[in-house]
Amino acid sequence: MSNYAEEYGQSVSDPESFWLDKAQALSWFKFPQQILSQDENGIDRWFADGELNTAYLALDYHVEQGRGDQTAVLYDSPVTGTKRAISYRELTSQVATLAGGLKKLGVNKGDRVLIYMPMVPEAAVAMLACARIGAIHSVVFGGFAAHELAVRIDDAQPKVVLSASCGIEMDKIIEYKPLLDKAIEVAQCPPQHCVILQREQCQASLLQGRDYDWHKLVSISEPVACTPVKATDPLYILYTSGTTGTPKGIVRDNGGHAVAMKYSMSAIYDIQPGEVFWAASDVGWVVGHSYIVYAPLISGCTTVLYEGKPVRTPDAGAFWRVISEYAVKAIFSAPTAFRAIKKEDPQAELARQYDLSSLEVIYLAGERLDPPTYHWLQETFQVPVVDHWWQTETGWAIAANMMGVEPKPTKPGSATFPVPGYHVQILDDTGHPVAAGVQGNIVLKRPMPPGCLPTVWRNFDRFQAGYLADFPGFYLSGDGGYLDEEGYLFVMGRTDDVMNVAGHRFSTGQIEEVVASHSGVAECAVIGIHNDLKGQVPIALVLLKDGETIDEDTLQQEMVAMVRRDIGAVVCLHQVYQVKRLPKTRSGKILRKVIRKIAAGESYTTPSTIDDPESLREIETLFQAKGLLQQSA
Ligand code: COA
Ligand code: AMP
Repeated sequence: MSNYAEEYGQSVSDPESFWLDKAQALSWFKFPQQILSQDENGIDRWFADGELNTAYLALDYHVEQGRGDQTAVLYDSPVTGTKRAISYRELTSQVATLAGGLKKLGVNKGDRVLIYMPMVPEAAVAMLACARIGAIHSVVFGGFAAHELAVRIDDAQPKVVLSASCGIEMDKIIEYKPLLDKAIEVAQCPPQHCVILQREQCQASLLQGRDYDWHKLVSISEPVACTPVKATDPLYILYTSGTTGTPKGIVRDNGGHAVAMKYSMSAIYDIQPGEVFWAASDVGWVVGHSYIVYAPLISGCTTVLYEGKPVRTPDAGAFWRVISEYAVKAIFSAPTAFRAIKKEDPQAELARQYDLSSLEVIYLAGERLDPPTYHWLQETFQVPVVDHWWQTETGWAIAANMMGVEPKPTKPGSATFPVPGYHVQILDDTGHPVAAGVQGNIVLKRPMPPGCLPTVWRNFDRFQAGYLADFPGFYLSGDGGYLDEEGYLFVMGRTDDVMNVAGHRFSTGQIEEVVASHSGVAECAVIGIHNDLKGQVPIALVLLKDGETIDEDTLQQEMVAMVRRDIGAVVCLHQVYQVKRLPKTRSGKILRKVIRKIAAGESYTTPSTIDDPESLREIETLFQAKGLLQQSA
């Protein structure tokens, strides 16, 4: 094991030789000569002239190296009562054949394929099949409704959609096909074909000529070989919420991503080939992309793909059962999941029923790890609890305790130190570095390490404006926080209109669009407020049109239903409050940041541009009356 300070120092003082060395751990078709260069937009690109195939690295390579019989994927589905172990050889064959099926449907290198699937192994097969032929996948989380799906279809313009007849949420069957059909109906750029995995819980009706049955397609397809792609060719697009209602397509390239996945698996997570790693997330989120599918497989590990919840499938011992059953070495999930377990089993009595001796580390990300959950985990399980911070944009952790390099003592509330490759700084709003302990904007000095986004799909201007323009030479993370005197990073929350519900990221603008579409609404503001279980939940402050009278309960029911219908149940709109006016600047901009601060119990200064200072006091009185004011930390 090396030393963190040396490893980090080299990564920022000489990034090219640092990443050249890490790139050597992969089996490239053509090893890159150009390590760091700039593209036509002046954006740093890694390994530009290298050639590889990500599915080859994740599958065929391991079969060639003698890992064919090792389990690649452990599928565990308490909601269907199914368990399945899939070897590297079997997975390679499934992927190669589905890739052949996609080719049959006319999918070629560079074409997009949208994947809208529940947590079944076929979701991973679908992603890898795209990677195998150089097609670009875009996975859409199964909890999103038809409208959100349509928006992504129109932006990615996929040739084919891969989906399933249903997902299963606890004991509810969620039929996917009607949602997909509706999305295609409203989309401007519909796909040519859909391939549907029929699950025994629900049979979807297929549209002759457009839709194919997954198994039938595979049965008439031949396996195809891996297509070499350039390191800078996109592997996938993953849509995430920005500050507006329109999601942005984060682009991930093949080469930088593969290097980052391989490096992080050993350096951050200390997981070696053959060991069992479990990211209890969903393939629809970045954690699922990176640590259910790509990193464990590229590293020759066994990954657990779990179709269930931390609680009620069937109880709060579900995570511990899986860990003991498969000798999981490290689990990675969101703090919300553990808060849910702690709520139902505060003494962790269910955990004591299982042999957890294989478990060496618990990793958390997706939202701030609150100190009570941190302490509960550490005291109950007596293993290191590692909070690490990252974003869809980076694809892997920006700050972490590097368990495979040099584990450091942790501090509750801190994601520990910047990961090698990430030059983290804290700047004030005018772009000046702040002193240790002072909160500011968390930024990353460019170049960012391999794996981070090079652009937003078909929208370089949005990439430039949203991430690079505010502080020249830096990437703006959108999170605020501070570095303490010892260099520990504390991430305190978003500084923009992005919120985090149960580890899922949403834009308040996206929810506002739906709320504002209600016929009685003149104006609205959505903000995230603290929630003990989910971290944050959205509330809507609504100003009705003149003359409208709708009682608050009816309005609430209608809006919750609209948000569920248009975005998805997972948003969990919590409360709707009617207000007489919204705090605004004289130019008409709603002062959401100030409203957020009031709800968080933080001090705020009344902006000099405010139109009517009394409106802020009204909000404060409302929050007080409704018990929404959080105690300041
Ligand atoms: N497809 C369809 N619907 C989905 C869905 C999916 N993939 N995921 C969630 N939903 C629905 C749920 O069924 C629920 O609907 P309901 O209101 O009709 O019951 C709603 O969205 C909210 O779901 P969820 O956020 O899961 O809340 P919950 O109260 O059912 O469960 C937790 C609470 C804490 C158990 C759950 O939020 C959880 O497991 N969180 C961890 C999240 C996580 O792992 N994030 C990964 C980031 S690394
Ligand atoms: P996503 O892109 O969905 O992964 O969400 C990224 C956002 O989640 C970040 O910008 C943070 O606001 C939040 N986040 C992720 N991990 C952490 C963490 N360990 N601590 C605090 N916030 C986090």
